[in-house]
Amino acid sequence: MPTHRIGERVSIEPQKSCRSCEYCKSGRYNLCPDIEFFAAPPVHGAFAEYAAIESDYAYTVPDHVSDEAAALMEPLSVAIATCRKAAVTPGSTVLIAGAGPIGILVAQVARIFGATEITVSDPAAHRREFVLKAGATQVLDPQSDNPSQRGALFDVFVDASGAPPAISTGLQAVKPGGKAILVGMGSEKVELPVSLIQNREIELTGIFRYTNTWPTAIELVASGKVDLDSMVTHRFSLEEVEAALLTGSEDPYSIKSVVIPPKKST
Ligand SMILES: NC(=O)c1ccc[n+]([C@@H]2O[C@H](COP(=O)([O-])OP(=O)(O)OC[C@H]3O[C@@H](n4cnc5c(N)ncnc54)[C@H](O)[C@@H]3O)[C@@H](O)[C@H]2O)c1
Repeated sequence: MPTHRIGERVSIEPQKSCRSCEYCKSGRYNLCPDIEFFAAPPVHGAFAEYAAIESDYAYTVPDHVSDEAAALMEPLSVAIATCRKAAVTPGSTVLIAGAGPIGILVAQVARIFGATEITVSDPAAHRREFVLKAGATQVLDPQSDNPSQRGALFDVFVDASGAPPAISTGLQAVKPGGKAILVGMGSEKVELPVSLIQNREIELTGIFRYTNTWPTAIELVASGKVDLDSMVTHRFSLEEVEAALLTGSEDPYSIKSVVIPPKKST
């Protein structure tokens, strides 16, 4: 590692690829068969005072970006990868299922990429309220509203819920030639409306993490275009990791929890 980097405040891209397979060499290192990813077995995440990462996966963070925002470059990267793959451009209309952290950030990034209509569905009222302030142009409750019956169909559908009914209704709402991106990881299998996908020539694909997103993520946050700080609803110490992990299921008002290791003097 270049010694001048010692002591730098960084945001880490939590993966290590082999750098020599066809996917690494073509820049799609997220698909590397030998990838090691923090939090994916057998790697036990990074709830520790120290974690080792190759230096080019550690990105310098400007002083005015908070530690918490630096940590949340990771879900922001999922959103950037999603909007790139969906080819969101000025004037795009986007439907997002799920207003959790991923859906919220997809809405923010879609707006920055130029989307003019960003509709987000979520059964949780407080999450609909949050995403409406964070980038959505309209929200709907999937229990009472069907996006395909609310006027024009959408250029892009992003599932950020993992809920099979959301995928099914979302696909119905994609216009001919549009794109559907499955980000949510809920069920192994879902039923697909094959004729609809064929008749409308819908491009259906998935997202597996990200590649080459950190510089963009840091720039979007440093320039004030994306707000990550307001997503942090709960803070925990290293000793409280279990409680931090349970917050999402136990507190319906949580958005993102962060675990803060003890401060070290440099
Ligand atoms: N593909 C990837 O690389 C990748 C990366 C990160 C996260 N994910 C997945 O993305 C999904 C979203 O992550 P998150 O952190 O925002 O999760 P989350 O659980 O906080 O948010 C999911 C949201 O979906 C909502 N939801 C449930 N049923 C719905 C329905 N029928 N219609 C619309 N919304 C519905 C929930 O109320 C919730 O707000 C998860 O499944 C996660 O595993 C995938």
